[in-house]
Amino acid sequence: MPTIEDNLRLWGSRYVWPAGGDEWSTRWGGSESQWFGAIYPRVHAFLPAATILEIAPGYGRWTQYLQEHCERLVLVDLNQNCIDRCRERFASSPKLEYHVNDGKSLHMIADASIDFVFSFDSLVHAEADVIEAYLAQLAQKLKPDGVGFIHHSNLGAYRVRWSLTQRLLPTRLRRRLVKRGWLSSFGMRAPGVTAELFAAYSERAGLPCVSQELINWRGSILLDCFSVFAKLASRWARPNRVYKNRKFLEEVANAGQLSSLYSTASFLNKG
Ligand SMILES: C[S@@+](CC[C@H](N)C(=O)[O-])C[C@H]1O[C@@H](n2cnc3c(N)ncnc32)[C@H](O)[C@@H]1O
Repeated sequence: MPTIEDNLRLWGSRYVWPAGGDEWSTRWGGSESQWFGAIYPRVHAFLPAATILEIAPGYGRWTQYLQEHCERLVLVDLNQNCIDRCRERFASSPKLEYHVNDGKSLHMIADASIDFVFSFDSLVHAEADVIEAYLAQLAQKLKPDGVGFIHHSNLGAYRVRWSLTQRLLPTRLRRRLVKRGWLSSFGMRAPGVTAELFAAYSERAGLPCVSQELINWRGSILLDCFSVFAKLASRWARPNRVYKNRKFLEEVANAGQLSSLYSTASFLNKG
């Protein structure tokens, strides 16, 4: 069960960030291919946005693209090293604003100041209390027509399977089975979060979900979810549309193939 302290320790000191987060994009053929092939198609309707809030940017893997679509980009991360790296990386951009938080609070953000809130590949490791706290505050921080896109865990839907494997299989055996593809990797997802719980929290916060895409990030189970939410009276409001996308991994593989033909790096490296 990843706590805020676990996230603080892991991303703040134990993890060495070998390629600043780009190492997590290799399946897509790189971050550029992941952004243009997987993320941008899902958020393009909300861009450009005057002010974007990115929660948990890490070393700025998505910040580099988000900054092209706004006048102001506010970064909030739990870890000082992440914010320091982003400050360094985006030093030439006057659009960016940086905050280290306690893993839950958005008190540094002015009310009704955000057009688009975004978080990808980070809050999958955040437990229900964190998700609930962020959503409750986002209701205050978003402008009336503001909208959010958050990538989060759906591991809670497989909680029984998860707790059985945790209890019955020793860690080394579990790792070996995952490596051979005989067991799904749970990738430090939060077991207390599901798409349904996220929708309930967002509804309670006054930010009902308008889209939820459950995806098989790894293996066959729908481990993760992308949720889009907005205020009831906003121009984005509509009944929630839920889609179980079991073809996500095919999309990833295809993006990986296409990147070798079209990515900027494929032309520069001439490999
Ligand atoms: C796996 S890294 C991903 C970073 C970035 N989103 C990316 O895709 O490259 C996870 C990031 O989430 C941050 N994080 C984890 N829990 C958080 C929380 N509750 N609030 C804010 N940031 C958090 C960590 O500090 C780290 O920067």
